[in-house]
Amino acid sequence: MAMANVHIEMFFDKDSATFSYVVSDNNTGAAAIIDPVLNYDAAAGTVSTEDADKILAYLAANNLKPVWILETHAHADHLSAAHYLHNKTAAPVAIGEGIKKVQQTFKLVFNIGDDELLAKGDYFDKLFADNETFTIGTVQAQVLNTPGHTNDSVSYLIDGNLFVGDSLFMPDSGTARCDFPGGDAHILFRSIQRIYQLPDDTNIFMCHDYQPGGRELKYQTSVLEQKTQNIHVKADTPEQEFVQKREARDKTLAVPRLIYPSVQVNIRAGQLPKAEQNGVSYIKIPLKQQG
Ligand SMILES: [Fe+2]
Repeated sequence: MAMANVHIEMFFDKDSATFSYVVSDNNTGAAAIIDPVLNYDAAAGTVSTEDADKILAYLAANNLKPVWILETHAHADHLSAAHYLHNKTAAPVAIGEGIKKVQQTFKLVFNIGDDELLAKGDYFDKLFADNETFTIGTVQAQVLNTPGHTNDSVSYLIDGNLFVGDSLFMPDSGTARCDFPGGDAHILFRSIQRIYQLPDDTNIFMCHDYQPGGRELKYQTSVLEQKTQNIHVKADTPEQEFVQKREARDKTLAVPRLIYPSVQVNIRAGQLPKAEQNGVSYIKIPLKQQG
């Protein structure tokens, strides 16, 4: 949609129900790519770049110059195309500095050696601090730490538009789970209060939509709509009520289909694990005996 200073183009990956965005400065053509998806077929063991190539084609057709590749967090449901797009465009890959904690946690889960992951924010070109500002051409943007779904979750505020990652879903879907390592429903509640302090007319852009009840796909809402209609947390919902609801729901949710492949690639900014001596890269899945 066209707005005063920026244009926002949405891209949808059906397989993971993920929205990616290109936000561009109408004055200079500078652009940020947000949460790009690398296509992955787990059964076949293949990755491909159809979705990312659509973004590249859009950038080229509109004469846009990517100056940032922004991740809202290390996703657990799809692989990131950040590394691929970085190689194609040279734009720096950025994420919140909470990624260090996520890397530390999953370095242990996947038993990754120091030669491959130091867990100090390596693989990313830029780690944002809370409230840090940056520019997309002539447009000012700001990072808001919004942890809770994960340690590293941030929201990007760009010219009155907030890209929230999984900190909020559409009002009829509520919020994302908080039961991954480092997730915390109390912390998510406080992050949402922070979002609700923004002006009511701030546009909010989703990272996912699962179309409850089979309704049409939706990816945009506002602070006012969330405060008045979000099924998990309205403006006056007490913290305890939200936390109880969130934690009860999390107990019913299955482990995401692609959590292990996604996280081990995404803590490397979308780079595949180092190839073995035969030139092939492998995804590791831990096996735990139950019962
Ligand atoms: Fe997520």
